[in-house]
Amino acid sequence: MQILDGKKLSETICNELSEQVIRFKLSTGITPCLAAVLVGDDPASRIYVSNKEKACQKVGMESRLFRLPVTTTTEELLVLIEELNNDTNVHGILVQLPLPEGCDELRVLDAIDPKKDVDAFHPENVGLISQGRPRYLPCTPCGIQQMLIRYGIETAGKHVVIVGRSDIVGKPMALMLVQKQSLSQTGADATVTIVHSRTKNLSDITRQADILIVAIGRACFLTAEMVKPEAVVIDVGINRLSDGKICGDVDFDTVKEVAGAISPVPGGVGPLTISMLLLNTLRAANLSNVSE
Ligand code: GUN
Repeated sequence: MQILDGKKLSETICNELSEQVIRFKLSTGITPCLAAVLVGDDPASRIYVSNKEKACQKVGMESRLFRLPVTTTTEELLVLIEELNNDTNVHGILVQLPLPEGCDELRVLDAIDPKKDVDAFHPENVGLISQGRPRYLPCTPCGIQQMLIRYGIETAGKHVVIVGRSDIVGKPMALMLVQKQSLSQTGADATVTIVHSRTKNLSDITRQADILIVAIGRACFLTAEMVKPEAVVIDVGINRLSDGKICGDVDFDTVKEVAGAISPVPGGVGPLTISMLLLNTLRAANLSNVSE
């Protein structure tokens, strides 16, 4: 059984990125800059945003954090987004989700300039992904794809079962994996099934998977009986238990006994998500330079 070490992989990717950032700065005089917007004081969101800021600094990018009170209205957020859209020194814009109740998430995300949408949540970017000609790839699915590629896990013709149908992970991951490999660098030629909370006989389907990607947001949801021997298991969940411990959507201790490879939590997909955000921010700076 192999442990898919996302932490180590993300260090390798960040080293590669640092060099690319140096070269980009030398040739253009531009420092890639990410603007992160955090509304309210959800403890998990604060940690995620602070990790994203630290990662930017580590690879030589600029980050600007906009911390707004929980009482911020949709209109106020839209004013800030407009300012960031018009600021030529800001290349990527990230609004940390979830937004507090009462904020219109879709209106806010739709207002982000698609060229600065480093999360790839804007409908224009989602459309481009579904057609196999992405401008940006969403950070978590892109991180998972890097994990599969860099560990040499073959996807062509394999049955990938994705547990969870979110707009952030499940749906875009399926679009990327089902794509023809020859048409796009994001393609993977996999046979993809999405299962979710309303799926009947869910474990009959998960047991057919050569590769299982679990992003359902329930602690220890996937147990050993739901996994085919030697399957590759990728755990996207980050759940905080009542004792304060972090655990994934996969029951790691039992599943590792059947799986051929498994990603841990923490230290699996999470660090790769952040690396891909940095990659997208560099790409955004590149795009701004080309179109100017
Ligand atoms: N909340 C949970 N995951 C994400 C993500 O990838 N991007 C943003 N902006 N918010 C999130």
